[in-house]
Amino acid sequence: MKRIRVGFLGCGNVGGGVYRLLEGFREEILHRYGLQIDVEKILVRNVTKPRSVEIPECMLTEDPGEVLENPDIAFVLEFMGGEEPATAYMLRALKAGKTVVTANKVALAMNWHLLQKAAMEHGCGLYYEASVGGAIPVISTLSTSLRANRIEKVMAIINGTTNYILSRMAREGQSYETVLRDAQRLGLAEPDPASDVDGIDAACKLSIMASLAFHCRVTYPQIYREGITEISDVDIRMGREMGLTLKPLALAKREGDTLEIRVHPAFLPASHPLSSVDGSFNAVYIHGHACGDMMLQGRGAGDMPTASAVVGDLLQAAMVEKHMHPTFANTAEPDSSLVFTDNWKTRYYIRLSAMDAVGVLARVADCFAEKNVSIASMVQKDAAEGRVMLILVTHEAPEHALASAVAALDPRKVQVQSVIRVES
Ligand SMILES: NC(=O)c1ccc[n+]([C@@H]2O[C@H](COP(=O)([O-])OP(=O)(O)OC[C@H]3O[C@@H](n4cnc5c(N)ncnc54)[C@H](OP(=O)(O)O)[C@@H]3O)[C@@H](O)[C@H]2O)c1
Repeated sequence: MKRIRVGFLGCGNVGGGVYRLLEGFREEILHRYGLQIDVEKILVRNVTKPRSVEIPECMLTEDPGEVLENPDIAFVLEFMGGEEPATAYMLRALKAGKTVVTANKVALAMNWHLLQKAAMEHGCGLYYEASVGGAIPVISTLSTSLRANRIEKVMAIINGTTNYILSRMAREGQSYETVLRDAQRLGLAEPDPASDVDGIDAACKLSIMASLAFHCRVTYPQIYREGITEISDVDIRMGREMGLTLKPLALAKREGDTLEIRVHPAFLPASHPLSSVDGSFNAVYIHGHACGDMMLQGRGAGDMPTASAVVGDLLQAAMVEKHMHPTFANTAEPDSSLVFTDNWKTRYYIRLSAMDAVGVLARVADCFAEKNVSIASMVQKDAAEGRVMLILVTHEAPEHALASAVAALDPRKVQVQSVIRVES
């Protein structure tokens, strides 16, 4: 039997789940792997705060040194959240030769190069399955199971809050503001929802996934990002009439040395496997040159699903002879031989409010034709007070051409209500 002692940094939702899982699964771990895992110390902000799990008082501390400088602790599990002081604490742990398991996508996305360097220099491991997609084994799939592939595309729904909001808007025909308020009341959205609704959380996760998928460092600033705050229930309804479902998408594509990495809401055809991933579920759709298409789906958050990933990493870390690290040069700056484009090609859904007058429709069509954007369909909806609603769907067109076609519309006659990308 092997005995390991672990220290926690944080004991909120995820930490509580990890503690519960380690306690409840103790016998199986011992029986299956001959491993006894003892939690030694737990760093929290406030030791007197009531917790969802019963933890012996002597285990809790407000002094990070009791975990980071504790010679008995060989594994540090981090679920404090935020970039700092989490990064500084993880670096201290790694430099003291302790292996780190983290659920923190922000600290990893921003400081991965520093953390990996410290882990490699001090011969210890850095594990982060829980940082993307909760229980879904996306990190191990990308870094080990699919290593015989040239991965060309990763499309994912990796933020449960925004997927929940858009799913409910579609189901109930409610506005963004109404559904967000209700999600906050139910504890499904943070009081300050910016990280979710502005796409920051998804961009951090995409930077990690894309780096592993494409074997190069994709840093956070290279990710194009648009949130869901401007989405109207009218567009969700119009899209549905055309067989399209609106999803909060994270998308990464590689063609040769050109990469497009973006987070934004997008319409998907109802036949796409991601279009039926609803509510708080997450899913990652991958295309590799040998494996073809595949999709992983499951619970992307929650105490026990996330604990499943953390404890899975811990077991792996405790049993391997040599820790694995990503293959690429993990530097602060991206590889200069790569091109990160913002002129990707896709289809577009455009909703316009146009003057109901002779020649206006023809002028709209001309504006798009002049920029070489071909219109696949144009539908005229309800007319009222001298205006009509126009819904255009284009064929595939470059982003810049689409933007200049839209900019060329005469704002006195045509107002652009929304432009939404249509992916497949
Ligand atoms: N929640 C999820 O479903 C989920 C899923 C996947 C990944 N994650 C990631 O897991 C991490 C933790 O999330 P969570 O939901 O468990 O957060 P949480 O409930 O807010 O817990 C944070 C814990 O860290 C402690 N803490 C925070 N700052 C500290 C500091 N400066 N010094 C000492 N202790 C500090 C808090 O102490 P007190 O308890 O005393 O306040 C608390 O125990 C985040 O990186 C998050 O992105 C979460």
